[in-house]
Amino acid sequence: MGPKSRAGLATVAAHMTRVFSGIQPTGQKHLGNYIGAIRHYVTDQDLGEAFYCVVDLHSISVAYDRDTLAENTLDTAATLLAAGLEPDRCTLFVQSHVPAHSEGAWLLGAVASFGELSRMTQFKDKSEGRESVSVDLFTYPVLQAADILLYDTDRVPVGDDQRQHLELARNIAQRFNSRYGETLRLPEAAIPSTGGRVMDLQDPTRKMSTTGGTPGGTVLVVDPPETVAKKLRSAVTDSGREVRRGEGKEGIANLIEIAAVATGRSAEEVESAYDGAGYGQFKTDVAEAVVEYLRPVRERYLELRADPAHLQTVLSAGAERAREVSGATVTLIKERMGFVSE
Ligand code: TYM
Repeated sequence: MGPKSRAGLATVAAHMTRVFSGIQPTGQKHLGNYIGAIRHYVTDQDLGEAFYCVVDLHSISVAYDRDTLAENTLDTAATLLAAGLEPDRCTLFVQSHVPAHSEGAWLLGAVASFGELSRMTQFKDKSEGRESVSVDLFTYPVLQAADILLYDTDRVPVGDDQRQHLELARNIAQRFNSRYGETLRLPEAAIPSTGGRVMDLQDPTRKMSTTGGTPGGTVLVVDPPETVAKKLRSAVTDSGREVRRGEGKEGIANLIEIAAVATGRSAEEVESAYDGAGYGQFKTDVAEAVVEYLRPVRERYLELRADPAHLQTVLSAGAERAREVSGATVTLIKERMGFVSE
């Protein structure tokens, strides 16, 4: 009998929507991660079967501190659980616990081209001006493609900055399928229209980031409430007074989007609620709204961090399920590529 046909199987058993996303364990997670991605992981848990991965292998592609890697990985997992991921509604795991990711990256590297990887803006940004750039930084998007494609993923909740990497993952899948036969599902990026790109509060022309942003302009999910409030109240705006989005109003536009998400309204509703109110009142209210928005997450995070055994149990169970699914895809990929079976 020839290789098993996934397409054939799919027509017999209805395909359950698969969701996959990954997050790096670099430092503490910030409001941009939360608004752009994490809150959508939570709502996407019930769409079908969801996999969320702390991508520690990706984080070694730039200089990192080996003394904090393990703790940062547990911190990130705790933040995701605190945000509302539940182990019986999704699979949460650590990338380095699942060898299929590295193996898949190598196999898919055969259909990724040097040219397309050279065009990745993240690679250009992170390598620019550096004396030494790791091979892992260059092949980073292939590992990301493997992460996604190994789970037959339909939907990938991510922030706007991942658009290009998602496009590459689709191209890799398409190229693989045309070379080796229909094997890999083409994933769709799910990018939020509000909050897909949260900007730094001190420099609203840059995206909020713990590695590339300003400390004062980056609200951490687990910052104490006073710190959250202070960072928002001192956000840089402009010399105008109108709470409206528009040319030269990046700072205010950013706060409008943050306020919209934190209070469950649309950006337009926020604008009309502050018609004629001025920036002072608006900033005070945004600060209060974000403090309340993050408060329960911070509280649950502190509880979870106090119980490392529970975290380890969740991550071990997650890795087991992830190995099952991704291992089967790697076996199929190898079969399609013509490797001899064991
Ligand atoms: P990472 O760890 O940088 O970010 C995690 C998620 O947060 C989103 N994000 C933002 N959203 C809005 N505004 C911001 N300022 C902001 N900063 C970050 C990111 O878009 C992301 O969704 N390459 C990925 C990790 C990854 C991955 C994957 C993602 C590895 N494998 C497979 C999806 C699927 C990254 O570095 O994300």
